[in-house]
Amino acid sequence: MSKISENCTVILAGGKGTRMKSGKPKVLCEVLFKPMIDWVINAAEDAGAGDICVVTGHMHELLEAHLNHRHTTVFQSQRLGTGHAVMQAEQFIRRHSGNVLILNGDAPLMDSETISGALAYHERCGNAVTVISAKVPDPFGYGRIVRDMAGFLQCITEEKDADPQTRKINEVNSGAYWFRADVLCDMLGRMTPSTVTGEFYLTQAISLAIENHLPAAAYTAQSPEVVLGANDRIQLLDLNNRARRTVLETHMRNGLDIPCDDGVIIGPDVTFGEDAKVMPSTIICGKTVIGSNTVIGPNSMITDSIIGDNCYLHTAYCTGSRLGSNCTVGPFVNIRSGTEIADNVHLGNFIEIKNSELGESTKISHLAYLGDSDVGNNVNVGCGCVTVNYDGKEKHRTIIGDNAFIGCNTNLVAPVNIGKGARTAPGSTITQDVPDGAVATVRAEQENIAGE
Ligand code: UD1
Ligand code: CA
Repeated sequence: MSKISENCTVILAGGKGTRMKSGKPKVLCEVLFKPMIDWVINAAEDAGAGDICVVTGHMHELLEAHLNHRHTTVFQSQRLGTGHAVMQAEQFIRRHSGNVLILNGDAPLMDSETISGALAYHERCGNAVTVISAKVPDPFGYGRIVRDMAGFLQCITEEKDADPQTRKINEVNSGAYWFRADVLCDMLGRMTPSTVTGEFYLTQAISLAIENHLPAAAYTAQSPEVVLGANDRIQLLDLNNRARRTVLETHMRNGLDIPCDDGVIIGPDVTFGEDAKVMPSTIICGKTVIGSNTVIGPNSMITDSIIGDNCYLHTAYCTGSRLGSNCTVGPFVNIRSGTEIADNVHLGNFIEIKNSELGESTKISHLAYLGDSDVGNNVNVGCGCVTVNYDGKEKHRTIIGDNAFIGCNTNLVAPVNIGKGARTAPGSTITQDVPDGAVATVRAEQENIAGE
């Protein structure tokens, strides 16, 4: 078997997470609207830790669907402990000859700096295994890092196996390790199940290495947060609060203006241009890019979107869409997936746009629905206009040419094409194409019936 000389990563994600009371695997529970497993994968990727193998277990189909073949997965059919979980990845590990990073899929705050720092230490010391530890205020529940008088790592003792003296140790195992690939494979073959629980503990690999006089050490992380996992929704909220604060502070250090952070949640993969501002009750998440001098909020939610410079989105929802620069949006606007909006567009209040293109300087000031539409430049869509894009079976497109003027309360029954510079009379229901420059009127004549 030919080996890839690079390092690789194994992420343990087979756990059930019973206390989450969730219909999905625990690692799909979200922190800042991003599944915990994606935080862990990104940390490994950012640290350049090579190919990734995810050990799945409980509700593995859902996790596999989420990973969507982006990474290798192996299925652990029985949950027999962290050591047993790594055994499932042995074939994958054997294809690599460098170092193996092991990560817990439910510890989303483990960061790439810690992972890289630990690898540098691991290589500098020539270690066979390096465990990433942290000193925490409350070590309850974690494996304790037991050192000898000289400070050398002796073993890791789990909470349930620890005597009162050991329980006082506040340096704990994060569950993340760097192993030499050959040593790890060797140790996997020598593991024995715990006489108490019958589980294979990965931490036994440390004791085995030390017994075999292989160099093993603990690398203490700067921040205690790297060890934190979530076993229930209350701990998940704690992770959200910590991650939220960290993300907000990072952006503010880089010049983002947040005059009041009440209800402000920004995901870890959002970027901002200079002097952007986020107002209260605003969530920005997914892979979103916000331009310079753009103000988002109050009361807005932006997901997986690209917003240009000098825009203002006020009480607006925007998902999977792109906006140019100098756009004003809101209040009460819903921009749904697949929408592309050019520069200088104005969307006033109570407007929904879906899967549409809007050209430069187009204005839709009040109360309108545009779905599946291609709208040109400099179009004016009057109050109360709607595209009738769905006939009960299929969706149809509406095309509106440059400089067209759609009168108030026009229904555009798609498929329909409004020519360049064409106009529609207020209240018209347009079912046929309108040629360039023409005025379409579809209205019954007014009849005034005299009062008594
Ligand atoms: C483990 C460590 C402990 C450390 C802690 C940090 C062991 C024996 N103990 O304890 O020293 O302080 O992590 O959080 O390793 N998993 C599987 N299959 C299994 C068992 C676990 O995939 O059969 C996965 C879980 O989904 C989880 C990770 O491995 O992502 C850790 O398992 P968990 O049961 O939470 O380990 P702890 O008892 O917390
Ligand atoms: Ca745990």
